Amino acid sequence: MRDWDHSEAPLQDAEPAFDAWVHTHVARIQSLIEHHVPGCSAASPALAEAMHYAAALGGKRIRPLLVWAAGECFDGEPAALDAAACAVELVHAYSLVHDDLPCMDNDILRRGLPTVHVQFGQAMALLAGDALQSRAFEVLTSNPAVPPAVQARLCALLAGAIGADGMAGGQAIDLAATGHVLGANALTDMHRRKTGALVKASLLMGLACGSSEILIDPVTAHCEQLLRRYADAIGLAFQVVDDVLDASSDSATLGKTAGKDAQQGKATFVTLLGLEPAWALARQLLGEALGAIDALPPAQRARAGHLTALAQRIVSRNH
Ligand code: IPE
Ligand code: IPE
Ligand code: MG
Ligand code: MG
Ligand code: MG
Repeated sequence: MRDWDHSEAPLQDAEPAFDAWVHTHVARIQSLIEHHVPGCSAASPALAEAMHYAAALGGKRIRPLLVWAAGECFDGEPAALDAAACAVELVHAYSLVHDDLPCMDNDILRRGLPTVHVQFGQAMALLAGDALQSRAFEVLTSNPAVPPAVQARLCALLAGAIGADGMAGGQAIDLAATGHVLGANALTDMHRRKTGALVKASLLMGLACGSSEILIDPVTAHCEQLLRRYADAIGLAFQVVDDVLDASSDSATLGKTAGKDAQQGKATFVTLLGLEPAWALARQLLGEALGAIDALPPAQRARAGHLTALAQRIVSRNH
């Protein structure tokens, strides 16, 4: 059982400079996606259209923002960071397409639009998810400006996060747990896998975009430990907040169907703890994440402002 009474971090308003940084980088991920998922293809125009619909139309782009924020902190190479940012967002888009399928959460609304299977049919949604996932690995391995060792490390981090022990495993646990009550440890494990693993991979990929030599530097090893602590906290907080918003917001604000978790009997932190304690847990996790940033050596802490602001935003968001 977690220590629920840990002190909570105060929520702060983001600064205008952070909003400008988000704006610039959201535009950057949009152009990367338009480039890598152009929405037309000779092989199957319908599949290309479904992929573009799934990846290009909206979303908060939190995972690529985390890649770039970690990259700023740890001297990431721009070409590698762009590839990593695009890859994590394509994998995320794939995960949403499959998560919404009738055989999973059976959702009809996503990012304010009909879900991919509603728009294009189930078979095309399945294939669009598959193809977005493989496109992500093509993006990671297709830029000769990214050294082969960095490409390999990025692929390993992403593959490890989204497979049977990570996101896919977490989704399998989620489905098996539907209609059942999970205890705190099992629920934490499920959330860490289904959502936390890709969030953590985004941050570690940002770190891995630095020069490969820096990875064996003892200072960097210490920084990696702290980044992992930040990632674990914020990855879990992300899904706790998702659970809270599902139970407390409305479909227009969320751009997806509110109240679905209760309707489907999903195991969530709201069902385990209730709304207020789940919200308090998210703020406690924010405190843990910010504590990890505070412990960074001065040189890295000075460049971790966007990691701090993103953690705040993940917990204070309304959709
Ligand atoms: C939703 O993720 C699915 C979860 C893992 C909780 P986001 O809240 O990041 O969805 P978009 O990308 O902004 O639509
Ligand atoms: C989704 O969790 C996790 C993944 C897509 C891997 P949810 O099922 O809670 O996400 P939403 O609420 O549909 O966005
Ligand atoms: Mg789900
Ligand atoms: Mg869902
Ligand atoms: Mg949800």
